[in-house]
Amino acid sequence: TIRTVILSGGSGTRLWPASRETYPKQLLPLTSERSLLQETAVRLDGFAAGAVDPEPLVVSNEEYRFIIAEQLRQAGVRSARIVLEPVGRNTAPALALAALAATAEGDDPVLLVMPADHVIADLPAFQRAIAEGAALAGRGSLVTFGIVPDRPETGYGYIRTGAEVAGATTARGLAQFVEKPDAEFAERYVKSGEYFWNSGIFMMKGSVWLRALAHFRPDIAAACRAAFDARRADADFTRVGGAAFEDCPADSIDYAVMEKLGSAPELGQGVVVPLSAGWSDVGAWDALWAVSGKDEDGNVGRGEALFEGSRNTLVYANHRLVAAVGCENMVVVETSDAVMVAHGSRTQDVKKVVARLKAEG
Ligand code: GDD
Ligand code: MG
Repeated sequence: TIRTVILSGGSGTRLWPASRETYPKQLLPLTSERSLLQETAVRLDGFAAGAVDPEPLVVSNEEYRFIIAEQLRQAGVRSARIVLEPVGRNTAPALALAALAATAEGDDPVLLVMPADHVIADLPAFQRAIAEGAALAGRGSLVTFGIVPDRPETGYGYIRTGAEVAGATTARGLAQFVEKPDAEFAERYVKSGEYFWNSGIFMMKGSVWLRALAHFRPDIAAACRAAFDARRADADFTRVGGAAFEDCPADSIDYAVMEKLGSAPELGQGVVVPLSAGWSDVGAWDALWAVSGKDEDGNVGRGEALFEGSRNTLVYANHRLVAAVGCENMVVVETSDAVMVAHGSRTQDVKKVVARLKAEG
């Protein structure tokens, strides 16, 4: 039985002004009436009965606990174990806490680790990839899911595949993992045709993650174990020990372990399962436009949006009616205290606005 781990502690700012530190991207209804977290939680409903443990492990920040519990309830998740971090220490510690929770009772399930803030359009394709990943992870492998890249994005990990894997249908060995290369290397990797993007979805047994982390980052592994040992659990939440977790160094799954895996093959084989399932991490507003259903003029409206003579425009309205007249390739985002208007080709620059607002306090 696969145990789902949903990483939901990030505080996205690139989708400002809808996404805030107090209300990050994964909690927003971006692509449907459901938030990305809710979409992630219900993504596993289509699996055969018994294939996936119905109780996901959700790792998040203390700050988001009520909204997360409420959103999961609304999405029909009957029970979830919500592990709360007092502070964010990035994804390697978050996954360590999940692995400790999953193995605490002596079980050692295969974990399906999913970011809470991604879109996957083609569920059957996703489920096929997960089924293949589960078999490999069950044998002790660390499984990544590779996306065919279409641009030299520097915000992703790049993975090069190697040898065939015995018994696999589509998976290959993981030959090289490079997290967030600079622009020159990203360009080179995409041109070579030999690299996938790392989707950020992983599968491995809980014990395999803990062993790999203890090998490469014994400091993180020890801090997480101390924090987990000092936990307090109630019906909904597991709170890890504050002081121990605050002492934990911050690092991501990718930097802490995946990049280095090749140097210690005894820890488990790295493998790549290609994932062609309409994946997007909805990094910026233009990506949201790209993955959303459009009207005949290519417009995307969320909330009360009205288009007049406009094309390829995204309107995200929260509280008021927003009308776009004669707009081409524009993004308009309306919230209670800020309105953002951007050209569709410049939505990456929204982060500059966020940086300025931060600097100006
Ligand atoms: N619980 C918890 N605690 N979750 C966290 C934390 C944390 O401290 N930090 C981030 N997360 C969650 C985010 O909410 C998100 O769902 C997921 O973990 C991934 O974190 P990101 O911060 O979004 O990672 P990234 O986008 O920079 O990079 C990762 O994803 C890329 C694909 O989108 C890497 O795996 C890349 O290699 C990959 O290409
Ligand atoms: Mg991300």
